[in-house]
Amino acid sequence: MTRNPSSSPWDELPIRDELRGKSPYGAPQLDVPVRLNTNENPYPLPEPLVQRIAERVTEAARDLNRYPDRDAVELRTELARYLSRTGGHEVTTDQVWAANGSNEVIQQLLQTFGGPGRSAIGFEPSYSMHGLISRGTGTEWISGPRNDDFTIDVEAAEKAIAERKPDVVFICSPNNPTGTAVAAETVLALYEAAQAAKADTAGALVVIDEAYGEFSHGPSLLPLIENRPNLVVSRTMSKAFGAAGLRLGYLAADPAVVDAVQLVRLPYHLSSVTQATALAALEYTDTLLKYVEQLKTERDRIVDELRAIGCEVVDSDANFVQFGRFDDQHAAWQAILDQGVLVRDNGVPGWLRVSAGTPAENDAFLDAVRAIMKETGA
Ligand SMILES: Cc1ncc(COP(=O)(O)O)c(C=O)c1O
Repeated sequence: MTRNPSSSPWDELPIRDELRGKSPYGAPQLDVPVRLNTNENPYPLPEPLVQRIAERVTEAARDLNRYPDRDAVELRTELARYLSRTGGHEVTTDQVWAANGSNEVIQQLLQTFGGPGRSAIGFEPSYSMHGLISRGTGTEWISGPRNDDFTIDVEAAEKAIAERKPDVVFICSPNNPTGTAVAAETVLALYEAAQAAKADTAGALVVIDEAYGEFSHGPSLLPLIENRPNLVVSRTMSKAFGAAGLRLGYLAADPAVVDAVQLVRLPYHLSSVTQATALAALEYTDTLLKYVEQLKTERDRIVDELRAIGCEVVDSDANFVQFGRFDDQHAAWQAILDQGVLVRDNGVPGWLRVSAGTPAENDAFLDAVRAIMKETGA
């Protein structure tokens, strides 16, 4: 069979029509001295925790002939304890569900509450996987509006929800890639709008994606799940816990949402090794949260120094900063890369995003920006 060289390799396969011509998620994984492009935590896990993981995984290995705890009860109990301690709201085990990264949590939610003939809305620019996972689950994706300062345009959002009647509403707070936190009043307004728009059925699911919640200046939106059966908060151990390689995400919601997700989750989806590793990391919560404090300080320093250099910077509540504005943000991305620093071009015209790294990595990044500003006379 001859292939059209400009088409994707899968275009001639009998794939689903809505996937034809689309691109997969793909932040570049380049081998450069300073990688600040995927909002990872720059600090490796502390050695005593590495040892504790080895112990717990060794224990789990002795039982690997058996399937893992399908309901991950011990892990969900510890996650509930963590949320109750840090999220400003008491959460019980039956309100928590865990999966392989919050991406899988989002996928399970869309498989349960979205799907063919249904739709989901997000307010863009936002986390691109909300749209991509929607498409992957056959859910129509609706791109909702934001204001010029990247806050959610509440009036326009309410209008879009009333008109399009989405089954799932994504609110990313702090928002990736802009770092913008969403006010509780905004969430409540959109929750009410979403329930009103779908009042003829059982309402709509509202998902607050708090992947970066621990880095926020303000409190978590977790308390909003109280008495709101269609509100979900999703979280991850990839960022604050410095465990992106672990693949552990979780949600908190009404127990009925956790029960509903059981309809689509694969049996034994969370391996014994994953559960053991996550439990070990949770034992070190206090140590790991100290790194979060350091990263918040560095994040604020990046914001101040970029502004001093003359960049425009969006206020950030996350472990990354969106900065600009560049006439050609991709050329600026390349110029920074040429200095050995990898940042992220999310395709937001004029803007780039940098993750907070170690102080030395952040210095290298700031030097690179100073150099390109000098070169271009910007
Ligand atoms: C807003 C947001 N949500 C979810 C995720 C997914 O995280 P993970 O699947 O590693 O838990 C990310 C990752 O970058 C993110 O930025």
